[in-house]
Amino acid sequence: MAGFTRTLLSSVALCAGLVSALTSTLQTGTLPSGQNPTNVGFYYYKPTTVAAKPAVIVAVHECTASGTVYFQSTPYAGLADTYGFIVIYPSSPHSGTCWDVSSKATLTHNGGGDSNAIANMATYAINTWNADASRIFVTGTSSGAMMTNLLAATYPEIWAAASVYSGVAAGCFVSSTGGVDAWNSTCAEGQTVDTPQQWANVVHAMYPGYTGPYVPIQEYHGTADTTLYPPNLNEELKQWCGVFGYNYNAPTQVLQNTPNSGYTKTIYGPAVQGILAQGVGHTVPIQPTQDMMWFGFVAGGAAPAKSGGGGSTTSSVGSTTSVSSSSSIISTTTTTSVVAPPTGCQSAEYGQCGGIGWTGCNGCVSGTTCQVLNSYYSQCLA
Ligand SMILES: *[C@@H]1O[C@H](CO)[C@@H](O)[C@H](O)[C@H]1NC(C)=O
Repeated sequence: MAGFTRTLLSSVALCAGLVSALTSTLQTGTLPSGQNPTNVGFYYYKPTTVAAKPAVIVAVHECTASGTVYFQSTPYAGLADTYGFIVIYPSSPHSGTCWDVSSKATLTHNGGGDSNAIANMATYAINTWNADASRIFVTGTSSGAMMTNLLAATYPEIWAAASVYSGVAAGCFVSSTGGVDAWNSTCAEGQTVDTPQQWANVVHAMYPGYTGPYVPIQEYHGTADTTLYPPNLNEELKQWCGVFGYNYNAPTQVLQNTPNSGYTKTIYGPAVQGILAQGVGHTVPIQPTQDMMWFGFVAGGAAPAKSGGGGSTTSSVGSTTSVSSSSSIISTTTTTSVVAPPTGCQSAEYGQCGGIGWTGCNGCVSGTTCQVLNSYYSQCLA
């Protein structure tokens, strides 16, 4: 960070995507022999000036894209110039360039799949570039969002925080026949419905014996997503609520029109937030300001320090009690204004109110009615 001045985030946003204005260029890296079993492409952007102990964001692309495309289509390289971090862009080795989130190898800690190679890139950054091991972040879009949930499940010790744009729960896109990089219609269409405890068990089975903390995570999803249906957001949130011991049916706070008009942010505890984007399809656009806040580069809503979650899946958190035993760092404003969920069990506008497998509120707040979008998803709409 030393050596240059922070730019106002508004001007950063204006510059985002203007690759020609960057201080440096995209480079290729090579993992040590044996550390890249599936031959995942390794691209990275290291600004001309980085912090002495730089943070790292691993940014994982969608199907049909690549590390190079994601470098160009996302704002992270411009933000790296401003904040002095390094961006790693892994690139899928598979035909069609989706990620393998279905094979036993990739679904297992140190299992030798794509997830293993990406985790090794983060470790490489720490060892080779003197990156700050306590500030390694991961984010991704669509197939890259599935990979982000999977990386949070299989390598919880690496990531300080994660943000997920339009994915599915870790282990949802599994292949029953062990297929690599397989498509799973059941999961894509939102028909895999599990309890928080079941999802937590899926996570723990990916890294048996791990008792350390898990990764604070933000999950974005659009209500008009017809590629990965909206109920997948519920399953992602149930998964991490299960892991962190939060009560999925009693979020601590529901913020309308946050961070954008028509977006609803639901907070389940310091480490788990879901953001439902009304009318947005596949995929929710990257929210650079939100990511910079969640990853702690900009003040106003940083993910809490990792704590808890290691193996504890039974405790639940009351809706109006203090949401964490750890030092809660979401932000002073949110922690002092925690509100109870609607009484009589009514979901907020844009909240879910029904659908196969739904066990939450069936009512809607006044001014909205419960409307069936598909058999798996009914929503409170005005
Ligand atoms: C798709 O994933 C679900 C879990 O989400 C799993 O039960 C099912 O067996 C998978 N389907 C195939 C064809 O592998």
